[in-house]
Amino acid sequence: MSTKKRIRACLFDLDGVIVDTARFHFIAWRRLANELGFDFTEEDNEKLKGVSRMGSLDLILLWGGVALNQKEKEHWAAIKNEWYLEMVRNMTPADILDGVLPFLADVKEHDCKVVLGSSSKNARTILRQVDLEDAFEAVIDGTVTTRTKPDPQVFEMGAEAVGVDPVQAIVFEDAAKGIEAALRGGFYAVGIGQSEVLGEAHLVLPNFIGRTFTEIERSLPLRSLT
Ligand code: BG6
Ligand code: MG
Repeated sequence: MSTKKRIRACLFDLDGVIVDTARFHFIAWRRLANELGFDFTEEDNEKLKGVSRMGSLDLILLWGGVALNQKEKEHWAAIKNEWYLEMVRNMTPADILDGVLPFLADVKEHDCKVVLGSSSKNARTILRQVDLEDAFEAVIDGTVTTRTKPDPQVFEMGAEAVGVDPVQAIVFEDAAKGIEAALRGGFYAVGIGQSEVLGEAHLVLPNFIGRTFTEIERSLPLRSLT
């Protein structure tokens, strides 16, 4: 019988997993759409989660049937980011989602690496804002990746940074595209949110409240390593 090896790294998405900035992205993108004369729904917004800033803008413009040139797109993306950062600047450590801090501590106690894998170019600003600058052994974000989720690049770089194979790592994600990225990269995928959206994940939890590393590890279909 083959031996089952334990999980050695946990990779966390940022927006919507560690902090509730997914809501701020929605508010700012919707404001932009409204300025351009159209609207989109919270359901449409799910398709933006995990997608880079310019990738999100392209999708929104497509929904609104608005064509902009590159310079105009950069202009609107910068305005949206300014609106977004206005909300981020009001954040404090109290904005860390419930259950996250005890869960991070529990993961570390199990000698497991803690990594951040985010599409955002604002990730380090947000981590500073909520005093989590030193919480992650590696931070891979939109400033260093070249491909956006559902491409697994961000998580592959994260796992490599701490020297752990994807088959021994869990990705925690609130976006369907993030779950797809994790699965494509050969990681275990735990969805944080609703199973209607994140059903492809190995496991879906509403949040981290009361969760333990051991409980989650046990509930995954751990594969044997060759
Ligand atoms: C992801 C969010 O984490 O980061 C997306 O889910 C967002 O909604 C993307 O578009 C890029 O973020 P930023 O902060 O670089 O505009
Ligand atoms: Mg997210």
